[in-house]
Amino acid sequence: MSTNADVESLISLISSSARVAAAEWQRTGTDVPPLSEAVTHPIDTATDVVALQQALRTLEGACEHLTTLLSPPGSVIFRRTFNPDTHLLRIAVEHKVPDILAKHPNGLSLTELSKIVNVPELKLGQIMRGLATRHVFVEVNTDIFANNRLSHSIRSYLPNGLYALASRGLNETQSAGSNLYESLCDESCGPSFEAKDSPFMHMARKDGFEGNGVFGWLEANPARRENYAIAMIGMGYSCGGLNVLHAFPWQNYTSVCDIGGSVGTVSMPLARKYPHLRITIQDREEVTQHTIDHWASNYPEAVAENRAHFVPIDFLTGAPVEGCDLYYMRFILHDWPQSDAQIIVNNVRKAMSPKSRLLIHDYMITPLDRKSGLVEAREHGIEPAPEPLLPNYGAGRARAHCMDIGMLLQYNAKERSLTEFLELATNAGLKFEKHWDLAETSMLEFSIA
Ligand SMILES: C[S@@+](CC[C@H](N)C(=O)[O-])C[C@H]1O[C@@H](n2cnc3c(N)ncnc32)[C@H](O)[C@@H]1O
Repeated sequence: MSTNADVESLISLISSSARVAAAEWQRTGTDVPPLSEAVTHPIDTATDVVALQQALRTLEGACEHLTTLLSPPGSVIFRRTFNPDTHLLRIAVEHKVPDILAKHPNGLSLTELSKIVNVPELKLGQIMRGLATRHVFVEVNTDIFANNRLSHSIRSYLPNGLYALASRGLNETQSAGSNLYESLCDESCGPSFEAKDSPFMHMARKDGFEGNGVFGWLEANPARRENYAIAMIGMGYSCGGLNVLHAFPWQNYTSVCDIGGSVGTVSMPLARKYPHLRITIQDREEVTQHTIDHWASNYPEAVAENRAHFVPIDFLTGAPVEGCDLYYMRFILHDWPQSDAQIIVNNVRKAMSPKSRLLIHDYMITPLDRKSGLVEAREHGIEPAPEPLLPNYGAGRARAHCMDIGMLLQYNAKERSLTEFLELATNAGLKFEKHWDLAETSMLEFSIA
């Protein structure tokens, strides 16, 4: 295929996928709001967004593929290596600029904003313009800024968890990212796959932390632990993690154990949608206390009606409660290097009965070479992206790779390929039943072999 043919194919993929995405917005009965407006839209917190995400992965992949294809390499390399997005966002998030601007719907001058956040006006102007250029905030008049669609969504007091997610990304993840090169050069951390030697832990040790692993670090930093738990709510919205409420036949089962369920990021919406389910949420002891308080404030009926139970666990040393129909783990295995992940799956297997199912819900790394992609498609119904896109959709799967590298930075861990998941499960004596395509994430269902 000549390059010109690639250009035409990409234009047509952009056009068709953008129309499907726009139709998904319109399906909610409301038009797509302008980016410049500080408004919310029902789709922001919708939980059934598989079709939208499928269209977006083609659209994002095709847009970046086309602009990269049509740009001289120098301009792409410059944009990627000098990209200041996360530095600028950190200023906005740490100073809670969206909260401040929410009190000034018509905009606030740089002079006033600079007094509130205590950053010199000239520097603040550069920062706000850098952000507004990437559609975070809007310059409504010279030197006057207001919230827009994106900045409005990260006000710190919203229940959507996006502020906490941004704070986690901009602090723990980005600081560990800045330390990746140094930790790889370090004689003991570089070759190690243990959680205690991750780039984040290498940095934390240099800062004087003596405990083990990120979860130990969170325990020693309660404010960051709380932020982490709320960030998981944000993660549910940002990656369509609640698509699973609609895609899986929960009505066919009666009991669920949500292993590493945090404060009930999935379990609470699940309990609301399927009141017949008996749900047990298991997490570390100190998280469990927080979870009990969270349900007492947000969904006391479920507790009073005996539908929600809270049982502490250390899944590295013990099995979850026995006798559940479903054992569900969202964003658990990706936190752990291979040997620990194997222990966790083995422990879950011990609690399962012949009628139980294990549901592993994570991002999945899909092949970048078309030959392997076609093998997966044939064997398990996982389709590669249409040509000329990269088989894994390229930028359309960027969040899977953000998460994969995030796991490396924090835990020396990773997102896994289908082959790697199957290996973990087979070693534990489990049989693969089904791949549930949730667009952005995947869920794999297993039974006892
Ligand atoms: C990435 S979060 C995922 C939370 C939740 N499943 C979700 O998707 O929102 C990982 C969870 O594993 C829990 N966890 C970490 N180590 C654990 C352990 N040894 N035993 C039990 N839970 C653990 C953490 O407290 C945290 O809630």
